[in-house]
This record gives sequence, C-alpha cells and structure tokens, in this order.
Amino acid sequence: MPALIIDTDPGVDDAFAIALAALDPHVELLGVTTVYGNVPVEATTRNAQRILALCGAGGVPVAKGAERPLVHPHPHRARYAHGTDGLSGRSDVLPEPLSPIAGIGAVELMVSLLRQADEPVVLAPIGPLTNIALLLAAYPEIKPQIDRIVIMGGAVDGGNVTARAEFNLWSDPEAARRVLTEPGVRCVLVPMDLTYQCAVDVPWLDELAASGPIGAALRELTTDYLDHYTKTLGRPAVVMHDAIAVAEAIWPGTLRTEAFPLDIECGFGPARGALITDRRRRELIAETAPTDTEPVAVALDIASESGFDGLRRRLLGGLAQSR
Ligand code: RIB
Ligand code: CA
Repeated sequence: MPALIIDTDPGVDDAFAIALAALDPHVELLGVTTVYGNVPVEATTRNAQRILALCGAGGVPVAKGAERPLVHPHPHRARYAHGTDGLSGRSDVLPEPLSPIAGIGAVELMVSLLRQADEPVVLAPIGPLTNIALLLAAYPEIKPQIDRIVIMGGAVDGGNVTARAEFNLWSDPEAARRVLTEPGVRCVLVPMDLTYQCAVDVPWLDELAASGPIGAALRELTTDYLDHYTKTLGRPAVVMHDAIAVAEAIWPGTLRTEAFPLDIECGFGPARGALITDRRRRELIAETAPTDTEPVAVALDIASESGFDGLRRRLLGGLAQSR
C-alpha cells in the first residue's frame, strides 16, 4: 500500500475515514490537510487534529488549507448534517491536539511530503477539491509523485445538496473540473451513488461503540449525523461516504470501476456542480464531439463477492481497535 495524504473537511464521515487510515498498521498516513466544507476551515482543522489524537496518531502533521472555493464565494456549510462544530457538537470531548498545526499551508505540506516520498503517494480528497486544484495548478511537476487521487464526490444520477449535485463537487465546481480533467494523473471517483448503497445501521454503530474507547468516541460523534440520515434515508442509518473512499485508497481494488470522460457543470443554473459522465462509445465521441479529457475511473460497485455487507464488516474491523 503506497503512503497516503488525506485532504478533508471533518465532518463526521471524514472522522471515520481518517480513523480508518490512522488505525491501520499497514497504512503510512503522511499527513492530513484541511479545507472548508462541512464547517469552516478553522473547525475542520481543529477536528482533524483531535481525531488524529483520538487514534493515537497525534504526530501526523496537519496543515490548514483553503477557506473558500477557487473563484466564487460559497458560504454554504453542512451543519444540518454534521452539527455546529462538524462533529455533532462533540469535538471538544475529543483529546486535545498533541501538536500545533503545521507552520505551512495545505498545498505546501502536500508538495513537501510528495517531494520527500520514496514512492508515489495516494491522495485521498474527501471534501471540496479546492486544495487539490491549487496543488495541480501551482506544482504540475509534482504529478509523477502522485500514485492516485481517490476522491469522494459526485453523483452519476441525482444529488444530495441539490437535485443534481453532490456536496463536495458542488462546493467548488471549478476546482472539481480542474482536478477531474487534469491530464497525467490517475483519479478514482467514488460517487454517492455507490456510497449510499453502503449505509450502516444502529447495530453497526453500537458494535463499534462496544469495541473499545476509540469506537465509543467515534459513535459519540454520530448523533446529529444519524438524525440527518434517518430523515434522508427514511430509516435509522448513516452513510459513511468518506470512509468508503478511503477504504478504496488503502485497500486498492475494493471497488469496481468503469472509466468515462468526465466534466462538471460550472454554470449557475439548477445543475451547477453536477457530474457529467460521458458513457457514449469512444468511437461516437471521436466522431461527434472529440474531447481531450482522459477517462476517469468511476466506482460503480463493490468488487468482491462479499458485496456491501463484506465492506461494512471490513470497515467495522478497521475501526474497532482496542488501543
Ligand atoms: O456528499 C458527501 C460528502 O460531503 C462527504 O465528504 C461529506 O463529508 C461531505 O463533505
Ligand atoms: Ca467530507
């Protein structure tokens, strides 16, 4: 497994994603960079530090990133799902950060870690893609040091924050377009069409809580998130979108993907932030509207025979640490 950098807007499902990587003894979590999104970047940064401290990974560097999208103001945050502090109001009961945030910004930390790495590194952005777009724009020469960019975002069909857009891509469509059409870097997109099929229920959360102090603390973070997703799904369960994307990042091949040229709607109509997957045959694309954008692997299903139940069990196993 290549080393990993997570770019994140914790966020309850981000917390589970960070914990999954931080608790895995086979994963080298080089750093965590933060971005605005579910809550403002000051809160996402504090939350990231505290989640790492909870998991005994307080030495992992945390650097603060973008506080707003690349181009257009975007005051919308997702407190309705993640609570006022981003962690169901429970951030302050997590352990204090063990170290201050890095003295450099998110993009600079990513560049520094990528340059130092002996092997190409996996980037796992699980919030708005502003930091990643800035990295690719400012340091294109760093792309060979990137193994893959495994992104939680997008909706092939539908949306969550609007009828046609998913929150991460909708938060900064210009950044998402830059990343998903960037030549010379392998992206894997894990859309909500897939993550919604892997909701976890209250017994799953309770089993995690019973596994030990870390699991109990993570369960505590889900109060507001469970309320939100009980309304969204119509049943008591939650969707750990980001943990599923990080599962693919740390366990390559977990998800089955198909490659399509992608685009993002950057206009200001009702479909702003929508993911456009061109599923036409290549021959037809070449004949009608040739595009130079490379196809991107989009996760459509679980790869293994054990299906979504197998992934739920594997996620629980990865988080239920008795440290
Ligand atoms: O749409 C789900 C995504 O938006 C997840 O990353 C969640 O944390 C929010 O950021
Ligand atoms: Ca997120």
